[in-house]
Amino acid sequence: MTPDFEALRREFPLLEHKTYLNSGSYCALANDVKAAFESYLEDRLAIGANWDVWVMKNEAVRAGVATLFRVDPDEIAVTASASAGLNALASAFDFKGRRNKVVVSDFEFPTQAQIWHAQEQRGAKVVHAPPAQDGYIPLEHFDELIDETTAIVAITHVCYRNGAKLDIKGVAELAHQKGAKVLLDCYQSVGTETLDLRALDVDFAIGGMLKYLLGTAGIGFLYVRGSLVLDLHPTNSGWFAQENIVAMDITANRPSPTARRFEAGTPAVVNCYASEAGLKIINDIGTDEIGNRVRYLTGRCMDRLAEIGWPAITPRDDARRGPLIAVPSSDAKGLAEMFMERGIVTSYRDGNLRAGFHYYNNDADIETFVGAMRENQARFQR
Ligand SMILES: Cc1ncc(COP(=O)(O)O)c(C=O)c1O
Repeated sequence: MTPDFEALRREFPLLEHKTYLNSGSYCALANDVKAAFESYLEDRLAIGANWDVWVMKNEAVRAGVATLFRVDPDEIAVTASASAGLNALASAFDFKGRRNKVVVSDFEFPTQAQIWHAQEQRGAKVVHAPPAQDGYIPLEHFDELIDETTAIVAITHVCYRNGAKLDIKGVAELAHQKGAKVLLDCYQSVGTETLDLRALDVDFAIGGMLKYLLGTAGIGFLYVRGSLVLDLHPTNSGWFAQENIVAMDITANRPSPTARRFEAGTPAVVNCYASEAGLKIINDIGTDEIGNRVRYLTGRCMDRLAEIGWPAITPRDDARRGPLIAVPSSDAKGLAEMFMERGIVTSYRDGNLRAGFHYYNNDADIETFVGAMRENQARFQR
C-alpha cells in the first residue's frame, strides 16, 4: 500500500510555513528527530556520561545504514563526515606501484576530487571523466580512462550541480574488468531511492546524514565491501578503529577486523541520536516507496517548468535523474534570495537554481515554486 505522504508531511512543522526545496543541502527537521535531540539532553541531565548508551547509539546508526544499503553492519564505518570516511579510505591505498591512477568525474562534489588530488603527493595520478556535448557523462568517457593502471574509480551518484545521475553499475563493470575498485559518493541520492550496494556492485560508498537521511551534520558513513576490509590498512586511524577499543594499548595499532577500522575518535554522540531517528523514518517508509514518490515529484516539476518555457537542465529520463532539479538562471543567487523572502527555500550552484525534492514535498509545493518561477521569468531566465 502506498504510504499516506500527506500524513507523513505533517511530521515536519517547517513545511506548514515554508515551501522547502532545499533537502539537497539540509533536510527539514522531523518531529521524531527533534525528540531524539531532546532525549540526548535528557540522558545527559539524568545520567551524565552514559558510555553504554553512547555505544548503542553509534551501533544503531551502523545498523540503520546497513539496512538501508542491504549490507552487513560489519561493512559500515560511522564517520564524522563523508570527507572523513574518504580520507580514511584513501590512506589505505598504496600508489607507489603501477596501479596508481584514480579516475574521478567532472560531476564530483569538491571534497571527493580534492581528497584524491591530495594523494598526488603519495604517487596518485588523478584524471577526470568530462561530460559530453549534452552535459551528461557517458560510459565511453569512463571507458577511455579506466585501464590496468587504475586503482580506483571514484564517482558521484547524483551530481550536486545539475542533478544528473550516472550509470553506476555500468561504470562498476568497466572498472572491475580492469581490476580497479569503485567508490560511490551517494550523498545526493541516499534516502531518496533504493540503493542496493551489492546489486550496484560498488566496493566502497560514502555519504552522510544531513540531507535526505533526515539526520544532522557532523556524522557520515563509509561502506567497505566485506571481502576487502582485511586487505586495507588505513593510516588515518584512532582508538575507535582498534579491534578492542578499551584495550588502551599504546604499544601497537591493532585495527578492527571490520569496517570500523576506518573510524577514528569518540563518536559524535548527539548526532548519533538524531541520525538513528532519521534512518528509522526512512527505513520504516521504505526506499522503494520514497523512490517512486521522489521520481513522481521531480518529473512533475520538470514537466511544469517545461510548460512555462523555462526547462531544467537535469535529465528528464528517470534513470538519469536524482532528487535534485537544476534550472539555469542569469542570477541564480538573486533568484534564490528573493524566493527565500517569499518562504520558498531553494539553493544555487554554478548559475543554476536548485530545487531538491523529498517524499515530504507535494504538488502544492511544485505549483508554488513554478508559479514563482513564472512571475520572475522575464528577469531571471537564462
Ligand atoms: C555529493 C556530496 N559529497 C560530499 C559532500 C561533503 O560531505 P561532508 O561535508 O560530510 O564531507 C557533499 C556535501 O554537500 C555532497 O553533496
